[in-house]
Amino acid sequence: MKKAHLLWTLLAVCLFVPNLLWAKNYVISTAKTSLVLRTEPGKRVDFVYYGSRIDRVNDIYATKSAVNWNAYPVFGTNCRAEHALAVTHANGDLSLELETVKVESYKDEKDGGNVTEFQLRDKVFPFYVKLFYKTYEDSDVIKTWTEYSHKEKSDVVLRKFASAYIPMLANDYWLSYLAGQQNSESDLYEEPINRGRKMLGDHDGTRNAFKTHASFMVSQGRPQENSGNVFGGTLAWSGNYDISFVRDYSHGRLEITAGMNPEMSHYYLKPNEVFTTPEFIFTYSTEGKSGVSRQFHRWARNHQIIDGTKTRDILLNSWEGVRFNVNQAGMDKMIRGISELGGELFVMDDGWFGDKYPRNDGTSSLGDWVLCREKLPNGIDALINSCEERGIKFGIWIEPEMVNSKSELYEKHPDWVVRQPDREPTPGRGGSQLLLDMCNPKVQDFVFKVVDDLLQKHPRIHYIKWDANFSANNVGSYYLPKDRQSHFYIEYHRSLQKVLERIRAKYPKVIIQLCASGGGRLNYGLLPYFHENWTSDNTDALQRLQIQWSVSMFYPSNVIAAHVSRSPSKGANNPSSLKFRFDVAMTGRLGLELRPETFSESEKLFAKRAIETYKGIRDIIQLGDIYRILSPFDKENLYSTQLFATPKKDRAVFFAFCPYYRRNQPAPALKMAGLDPNRNYRIRELNPLDPQKPASINGKVVSGRFLMEQGIVLRWEKGDRQSAVLELTAE
Ligand code: DGJ
Repeated sequence: MKKAHLLWTLLAVCLFVPNLLWAKNYVISTAKTSLVLRTEPGKRVDFVYYGSRIDRVNDIYATKSAVNWNAYPVFGTNCRAEHALAVTHANGDLSLELETVKVESYKDEKDGGNVTEFQLRDKVFPFYVKLFYKTYEDSDVIKTWTEYSHKEKSDVVLRKFASAYIPMLANDYWLSYLAGQQNSESDLYEEPINRGRKMLGDHDGTRNAFKTHASFMVSQGRPQENSGNVFGGTLAWSGNYDISFVRDYSHGRLEITAGMNPEMSHYYLKPNEVFTTPEFIFTYSTEGKSGVSRQFHRWARNHQIIDGTKTRDILLNSWEGVRFNVNQAGMDKMIRGISELGGELFVMDDGWFGDKYPRNDGTSSLGDWVLCREKLPNGIDALINSCEERGIKFGIWIEPEMVNSKSELYEKHPDWVVRQPDREPTPGRGGSQLLLDMCNPKVQDFVFKVVDDLLQKHPRIHYIKWDANFSANNVGSYYLPKDRQSHFYIEYHRSLQKVLERIRAKYPKVIIQLCASGGGRLNYGLLPYFHENWTSDNTDALQRLQIQWSVSMFYPSNVIAAHVSRSPSKGANNPSSLKFRFDVAMTGRLGLELRPETFSESEKLFAKRAIETYKGIRDIIQLGDIYRILSPFDKENLYSTQLFATPKKDRAVFFAFCPYYRRNQPAPALKMAGLDPNRNYRIRELNPLDPQKPASINGKVVSGRFLMEQGIVLRWEKGDRQSAVLELTAE
């Protein structure tokens, strides 16, 4: 027995040690993280490690932290295993087996990213795969994507085509993800990842964050905001997606596969055509979920969001104030209202267009992007003039991918809509809304022209709200050939990106908001073309506290449009004070969504002061580092707190919310996070109800260490939905 054991050990050493010695480890490091992959020509690429930065690869082996598993498994020779790619070759064969041909490292001159590229080929067929990993020096984030091509005799069918596959060693993992629906977007769910398969996915066709987001975090142990090891991932794609988590106890691994949703989307890849998957973007922090958020935010502001390092204007949007009831007098009142309050931009929402069919509700006019003269006889320029006379800018709403069957556009081009030719289409909003077929280049030109015409005719339009309120229903394209209908879901989004690229090439400066029935389209695939996202049509401050909290897990505050609306807001019966509503909205990109003329004098005064205050801190909120502390989702918490700090930690803003007051509960000490323990901070209360009677902490100087270790006790009055905002300035 002993002899046999020795022989086996010797054999294992002979097989394994040379592999260790000859195979090369590719260590892709950022300031705080390292990804290690290993391969050699003729072998597969192995995923060795991803986590805290290592300077010695031996640390991984010494601690048995190596995953040593396929970095991009394909269907073919280990069919029961998870796979990231599956194809049908030109001759009908279903198998793949990839080997490394070459590895290259270089700088992407376009954006300064450092790329490591693994070039692989199948052992039998002329089918090629490239795996890319890209990092940026200023950021602890890695982007990965894949490319496929082939030289087979005819098309190869792609049946599964994931952007990324990440294996992790077995552990006590918890998944945090966002899911919901219109008006209750982005509910945060946190659960242990048990044995089996968990899927996050979407097949809406157009609005892929309408229900479940393509973003998640995986924590080791129960998720914490400011401690613990956390992996964060997000798929930069606006179409259908599919992210799976497979906990395989027998192999001791958690396997994450993320990419486009292949359902109803098999893709015929022509010889020499290159298919590129969307980017999967990931990061890792030892500072909890907020640590992952800060890394995503920094990377996104620097590399993924248009004008990401700039703050955004304070605006008034007309939608909740007047809905479709747009007219000259109403718009004039709103323009006057927001300018008197110190706002910077007015946005005219839905209801301004339609000539033959004026847009009075959701049943008509989409597609006819001409001013409704009946409603606005003086034209758009008169509105812009009126804004400019009052020192503010002008913005406008469009929904250019859509059409109503009651519209001039539909009368002219019924074949431009997404539908199956032999069936009546099933419409959406208003019983007549349909989706235009973006795969059709004529439709692409039309959508580009909607924006181009508006901006050519009215070059002073500063802001566009781009809405999308319908999914892809009756999926079918008059444009795509009969045998390429399954390309629709992918082509739609590739075409949308093409149009957005044309728009951005011509109009790089116009601010464009991404909106889809609220926050239905929030993803990093579209954000390179947009400045911000409309977070939700639910503007109830209490519910926004939760929605904005969870969105902040992945997106920085300059992208999170947060508007003060009337109380109680439509659809929720949670009356709250103007102060509470302002304080909640001030954690994001502050705006208003009501008729300012309905404010009382004291409300006007409060709003004016709050807007002025926000201007003084918006760089900290929108461009600073977030530390979420007490979660509004945690039923154990009576309070919810968060803090934004400059990277130098010399200025910070602390928000404390008391959503539900409990009688006779002593006020707890609220601890801060993210401050410099060795500096003292002068505290100033912002947005006090009565500036003559600020909180007793106002004007005091307290050390960062004390504020983080012991916290502060605030005085709460009786009553639900109270809040306090404190500015901290290092002495
Ligand atoms: C849906 C958006 O989410 C709203 O903010 C508003 O713009 C309406 N569409 C207008 O129809």
